[in-house]
Amino acid sequence: MYFCIFSATIIPMDLFSNFEAIDNASKRIAELTALIDRYNHEYYMNDQSLVSDFEFDRLLRELQDLERQYPHLASPNSPTKRVGGEVSKAFRQVKHRFPMLSLGNTYSIEEIEEFESRTRKLLGDTPFSYTCELKYDGVAIGLTYRHGELVQAVTRGNGAVGDDITANARTVATIPLRLRGSFPDDFEARGEVVFPFNEFEAFNRQREADGDEPFANPRNAASGSLKLLDSGECAKRKLQFCMYFMMLPEDNNPALAHHAPDPQLSTHFGRLEAARQMGFKVQPYIKECNNISEIRQFIDYWDNERWNLPFGIDGIVIKVNQVALWDRLGLTAKSPRWAIAYKFKAQQVSTPLESVSFQVGRTGIVTPVANMKPVWLGGTTVRRATLVNADFIEKMDIHYGDWLLVEKGGEIIPKVVGVDLSKRQPGSQPVAYITNCPECGARLVRAEGEAGHYCPNQDNCPPQIIGRLEHFVSRKAMNIDSLGSERLELLYRRGLVHSVADLYDLRREQLIGLETYDETGQRKTSIQEKGADNIISAIEKSKDVPFERLLFALGIRFVGEVGARKLALHFNNMDNLMRASLDELASVDDVGEKTAAVIYDYLRDPRHQQLISRLQGYGLQFQVNSDNYQMSNELDGKSFVVSGVFSRFSRDEIKAHIQQHGGKVVSAISGKTDYLLAGEKMGPEKLKKAEKLGVPIISEDQYMEMIKS
Ligand code: IVH
Repeated sequence: MYFCIFSATIIPMDLFSNFEAIDNASKRIAELTALIDRYNHEYYMNDQSLVSDFEFDRLLRELQDLERQYPHLASPNSPTKRVGGEVSKAFRQVKHRFPMLSLGNTYSIEEIEEFESRTRKLLGDTPFSYTCELKYDGVAIGLTYRHGELVQAVTRGNGAVGDDITANARTVATIPLRLRGSFPDDFEARGEVVFPFNEFEAFNRQREADGDEPFANPRNAASGSLKLLDSGECAKRKLQFCMYFMMLPEDNNPALAHHAPDPQLSTHFGRLEAARQMGFKVQPYIKECNNISEIRQFIDYWDNERWNLPFGIDGIVIKVNQVALWDRLGLTAKSPRWAIAYKFKAQQVSTPLESVSFQVGRTGIVTPVANMKPVWLGGTTVRRATLVNADFIEKMDIHYGDWLLVEKGGEIIPKVVGVDLSKRQPGSQPVAYITNCPECGARLVRAEGEAGHYCPNQDNCPPQIIGRLEHFVSRKAMNIDSLGSERLELLYRRGLVHSVADLYDLRREQLIGLETYDETGQRKTSIQEKGADNIISAIEKSKDVPFERLLFALGIRFVGEVGARKLALHFNNMDNLMRASLDELASVDDVGEKTAAVIYDYLRDPRHQQLISRLQGYGLQFQVNSDNYQMSNELDGKSFVVSGVFSRFSRDEIKAHIQQHGGKVVSAISGKTDYLLAGEKMGPEKLKKAEKLGVPIISEDQYMEMIKS
């Protein structure tokens, strides 16, 4: 063995070459990081692609490999963290260093005028200006940077305490992980995480295809994304961060004020400009205004133009520009006196109703839809809007030919909110609700006490048959993912599948060569041998899907995922469920009398009994798995204290649920407790104790996320 002598230390030669390898790796990691950071910055901030996707992926993979080989060299802010990968069990609650205040807001321009004149009066002769900027409609977060590195990202929470979402924030491409140029050594960047419209639409479409409920609006989707426990999932969502505020430690501590000599940082406008240089995405739509008329102009401009932005805004924020004046103006109970938000009113237009059509869903429910003269509203052309049900039409007193008032608020979906009676044609007739199903002609039924009509012809009404099949194969039900809507419709139209049980009779020879067509009649795809094999094997695999999901897959009205699970746990098997009385059904948590009656009737219908017996014959799971129903080992070794009231479970159910996933339930909090699972109205003593001992407190939603992963 050779030795290399360094001053007084003797190092074995192979160790020396190891040092060299580490040194090389460290240099290469630094090179790759700088290169990828630059490419990312140009791509996300300046819309410029400096390399091919192929080359970019190659560099990223090289960096990932090196980090895997030398984990101690991997920085928490490496660009590889953009793709996520960290899966946490819960979010740590973090106290904000500086409280995240909210803003006083108003819909009235007069109140903005009052704000402006009050501010002017309070500041007397001091020269000052305002900044006007967009009020982003997303989720507020605070990012702490130290020595130019992102160290923590926290949601606003209640303003005093928020969730630590650092791993998820790192996946947001427009959040810089390392700053460029010069920057304060310690500061917080605040802003809003938004879900751009186009990404949101694509994401919701995918959710629907997966059988998941679409999100109601981009804000909810952004908020849900930041609360995902798997940062890899968050990375897929293409969120954006719009920075709107820089908070320096000296802002809250006059004793440190002399430490901020940089004149650029003495105005809000200058701070945002400086932030842009550091690599933040700061929207260019910010204007320095000197008086109320300039402020009004800005507001009016964006009230019209807002729909042309790629993301949602819900107003304009006006701030006093000079940071030194903020202290002088002070705070009210929860918001600063140096800023105010003007909120836009929902946009409304009126447009003539051209016709009313009626759509039939999978459970036979009929939904009336207004077809209107296309009208431009809030950035899109609106042609159709739901008329909800017969009661809605009656309440609004909608007549044929009426001009409907359509509104679009922060939401994407336009709503009919009234009728412009001044334009009603004399002698026009009220919209008549149909009496027969537009798809199969059956006479519609309206059950007593229910607002909606439905088509009872479940066996021969095509949208109901296809809808049931779609629901049955969807991800949360039987998860037969090789059968999409198009293929199901094809199987139905070719007479191969009518009931969900027919799926289990399908043979591969029947599938091979089946063709789908597009709207123009052009042949699109035909099922090949491999495709047929995939379909058959996915159907076969679905025979192992647990009873609770099968129960959900049957598509009984009002029986959702949660209800199906509760019924399965309560009755244990299908025979017990079929024998259950109305009272017994209604006694199950969350199953009201109405749902109990629907389930009772469903199970007494000979057609359903025949379906169930066919499915039993194919070997599907009609019994809760009796290995004590161990559903996963997700919570292995973790102990929980459960307190309060929960929305999805009774207290006993949530305890059973924890055990079914391998966790342990204990009654008293100690330093060894892993989580306090907190429902509503939780006892304050438990809360205090958990806080004192540093036991993480998680909500029911956070618990569900833990299980999901
Ligand atoms: S400034 C102390 N600027 O609006 C001032 N807030 O109640 C801090 N928001 O949820 C806020 N766009 O997240 C500011 N350009 C903007 C904003 C903005 C959206 C949100 C903020 C908070 C709410 C204010």
